[in-house]
Amino acid sequence: MSLPEAAGPEELILALPPPKPYSLSISDLTIGAPQSQDSYIPSFLRPKKQGDDGPATIVRNVSGTCGAGEMLAIIGGSGSGKTTLLNAIAGRLGGLPILEGQITFQPAAARSGQNTPNVDGTPKVSKIIGFVRQNDYLLPHLTVRETLTFAAGLRLPKTVDKATRLQIVEQTIQELGLVDCSDTVVGGIFRKGISGGERRRLSIGCVLVTLPSIIILDEATTGLDSNSSFLLLKTLSELAKRHSRTIILSLHAPRSDAFSLFDRLMVLSKGNVVYSGRAAESLSWFEERGCELKKETNPLDYLIDISSVDNRDEEREAESRARVDALVQAWKDRKPAEEIALPPFAHAIVHSISRDSQKAGDLSADDSSGEISRPGLISQTRILLHRSHLNVYRNLGQLAGFLIQSVGIGVFMGLTYYNLQGTPADIQSLKVR
Ligand SMILES: Nc1ncnc2c1ncn2[C@@H]1O[C@H](COP(=O)(O)OP(=O)(O)OP(=O)(O)O)[C@@H](O)[C@H]1O
Ligand SMILES: [Mg+2]
Repeated sequence: MSLPEAAGPEELILALPPPKPYSLSISDLTIGAPQSQDSYIPSFLRPKKQGDDGPATIVRNVSGTCGAGEMLAIIGGSGSGKTTLLNAIAGRLGGLPILEGQITFQPAAARSGQNTPNVDGTPKVSKIIGFVRQNDYLLPHLTVRETLTFAAGLRLPKTVDKATRLQIVEQTIQELGLVDCSDTVVGGIFRKGISGGERRRLSIGCVLVTLPSIIILDEATTGLDSNSSFLLLKTLSELAKRHSRTIILSLHAPRSDAFSLFDRLMVLSKGNVVYSGRAAESLSWFEERGCELKKETNPLDYLIDISSVDNRDEEREAESRARVDALVQAWKDRKPAEEIALPPFAHAIVHSISRDSQKAGDLSADDSSGEISRPGLISQTRILLHRSHLNVYRNLGQLAGFLIQSVGIGVFMGLTYYNLQGTPADIQSLKVR
């Protein structure tokens, strides 16, 4: 894959192949909790606990959609199942069983004026998804540009030539507003580098350079100040719109003006869906159910508040539990017309199927034809060695430590065997040592 000759940087950026757009559809997804410690006891011998009427679940009957070019925000109190749901979408559930439901990724038509990459067939789900974890794992002694270049080298298909790879890196630096710090080191505990917001954007950049169609971010803005977090959400929203990328993120305490950036919203409460649909229609849905947003209240904070149980005292707990139960029930009883279903598509990727056939990230679609070949073992080893060498050689403190350690051990060994003679006593002492 290479780019056509272009006149200036703008044309080069526009000439970059946008990722193939995909829409996401989750239908009736239920994820079970792992078995308890006494699982070695056969189930028919286990004492039945009160309220134990089936396997424990972390999220229950979750449905929702997010089209290409849209941003879906998943909000809810702590422990409501946001991370579990994101992991399920990314096929990273680990040992958690999927009891029901399915997640489908459907190729979508690109927006007009955009050139769609020529990818035939259906790629694996892991190849179309970029997952940004909550914590940033970056090497402290590499610059922003180097970090992105290594990430691109490791993940982009072999067919992408070096010049194109560098252009993708430059485009990502511009898209994420990292131009000013592109040659600054990342930094760590002992060396000050880029700021927290820039680190977060760089982590997102490491995923973006791999040109994923779907970007999943867990706690996208946690740890950022309100301005950086708003700017980050704005950048993500623009990314979604410009290249028809699908962006799914979980959030804690976003700013009120971020509300308008989300196309779709999913509100979870202890694993149950309280709302899942267009963000713009969410407030009216709650208003109709007697939960009116007060003026000067952050709508996102308000939605998290009304879908959380207040445990401060018994009275408040009973009242809030009744409200949450009513909201969960109202969502369950909604008319089917309110579902926003995606049209069926021949080449959809379906994963996490049923309790019998579940395999994390399993794909029922034919995923071999559109296989994008990543750099092989030798290329990856070469890139990783180069990256580690740069990171070690720039860490002068650590290098000096290694030097002192080596010299110290040498001196110690030298002194231990210093001036030994060929006498039986000396040879004996050498043996003892
Ligand atoms: N592997 C697991 N084993 C047991 N319980 C789990 C596991 N993963 C998640 N849970 C439970 O499922 C519930 C939801 O967890 P999850 O991490 O998805 O919540 P969350 O909404 O992301 O919370 P937070 O906002 O605090 O990050 C929690 O009560 C958690 O203890
Ligand atoms: Mg979480």
